[in-house]
Amino acid sequence: MTSLIQLGYLASAILFILGLKALARPRTAVRGNLLGSAGMLLAVVVTLADQNILTYTYLAVGLALGAIIGTILAVRVQMTGMPQLVALFNGFGGLASLLVGAASYLELIDRPEAIGNDTAAAAGFTLLIGAVTFTGSLVAFGKLQEIFNGDSFQDQGIRVFAVVSLVLAVGLAVAVVLSPSPLWMWALIAIALLAGIALVAPIGGADTPVVIALLNSFSGLAAATTGFVLGNSVLIIAGSMVGASGLILTQIMCKAMNRTLFNVMFSSAAVAGGGGDSDDIYTGKVTSSSADEVALILDTAQSVAIIPGYGMAVAQAQHAVRDLTRALEERGADVVFAIHPVAGRMPGHMNVLLAEAEVPYEQLKEMEHVNPQFDQTDVSIIIGANDVVNPSARQDPTSPIAGMPILDADKSRTVVVIKRSLSHGFAGIPNPLFAADNTLMLFGDGKAAVEDINRALAEI
Ligand code: TAP
Repeated sequence: MTSLIQLGYLASAILFILGLKALARPRTAVRGNLLGSAGMLLAVVVTLADQNILTYTYLAVGLALGAIIGTILAVRVQMTGMPQLVALFNGFGGLASLLVGAASYLELIDRPEAIGNDTAAAAGFTLLIGAVTFTGSLVAFGKLQEIFNGDSFQDQGIRVFAVVSLVLAVGLAVAVVLSPSPLWMWALIAIALLAGIALVAPIGGADTPVVIALLNSFSGLAAATTGFVLGNSVLIIAGSMVGASGLILTQIMCKAMNRTLFNVMFSSAAVAGGGGDSDDIYTGKVTSSSADEVALILDTAQSVAIIPGYGMAVAQAQHAVRDLTRALEERGADVVFAIHPVAGRMPGHMNVLLAEAEVPYEQLKEMEHVNPQFDQTDVSIIIGANDVVNPSARQDPTSPIAGMPILDADKSRTVVVIKRSLSHGFAGIPNPLFAADNTLMLFGDGKAAVEDINRALAEI
């Protein structure tokens, strides 16, 4: 039986690894999801056979309730509400680890001969990370759901409190190991819960996606340490994979914003200000255009790059953009989508929206692949993107986004920018691209403007 159970765990770990690998490519992502789910199902079945289960009734009720709530949430969630759901799930993961860690610790403490330093250390880690993940994720959820505004917690005192409580919580985690006692355990849980709130509360709304990726990594770490407490190998493997992938994603997002994780966690939310004076940059230099004029230019274009940004998500313009793509292709143009890694407000934001509108994956080009093509591109159409095409990142060393890798749309022959006004994006700075000689501004809501272009193109 034991070797059968170990074999089951090994098989589910292999399914997790294969699933994760398949998830790395859009074409195989659905298969990856299925493989991961199958691995999880196998892990649950094997665990039920493995452990000395006292009652199956509670488990069945919990499973049924969880399945119903999870299904309703997953079916009802809008694409734009996905980050909130992920935040909530991370929080539940942290809470589950916290509860298992606390129950196991209290159980072990009654049998001092059974509590080795390694188990106590794993329990201490689980309590610490589980509690921080739980409250931190709830705060992140509250901000994304706009239950409260993170930008109103900018007081430096909260950041100091966060650091002090975190240091205290680490000290208590050591005390939990060196001198096992329920008192240390409850103190650790209380302080770590507070640390989670204080760490995430001051982080600005737009930085919250980075923190969610980090909390995702934490929930994995908490699961892995729970695996050490319970002696469950598949939990260790699955938790480590979630921990590592969450950390890699956090790193990718920070790099794409040219910020360090420390800067995201402990600096003010927006880097607003700097980057030059809007009036100096724009006055007398901005060229407005119309849908008819843009349609005329597009009618003769051979190569077109479409650059979506946060505004496309706000306007829900993806279906209109897909129609525009088809109309251009029918005219013989070569159309690509240039995707910046942090366009929008969550990882893969643009990919998800465009996939929803059934834009073929092959048409989506990553920044490093598309950048060398811009100087041979006839028209770049920027829809609701701003920071990710701001050339001051490349040209102005004093800019707050200096060094941030951008899409070099300014190098195209003609640039069409669709947005409602000259107002700034997340970074809070003006964009000299809007005043460039080869740029035409088409002011308006993203969806309405693209629909107007489509109509005008059809009439040519
Ligand atoms: P932003 O620089 O934030 O610019 C978005 C633009 O969309 C705004 O300038 C806005 O201008 C326009 N817009 C808003 N609603 C619109 C509508 N209905 N129709 C047309 N345009 C509309 O967006 P971006 O270029 O995608 O850059 C993303 C930013 O978010 C980066 O600074 C990045 O560092 C940050 N960030 C991203 C992530 C992830 S993971 N993606 C995470 C954290 C932070 P108007 O108001 O004039 O229309």
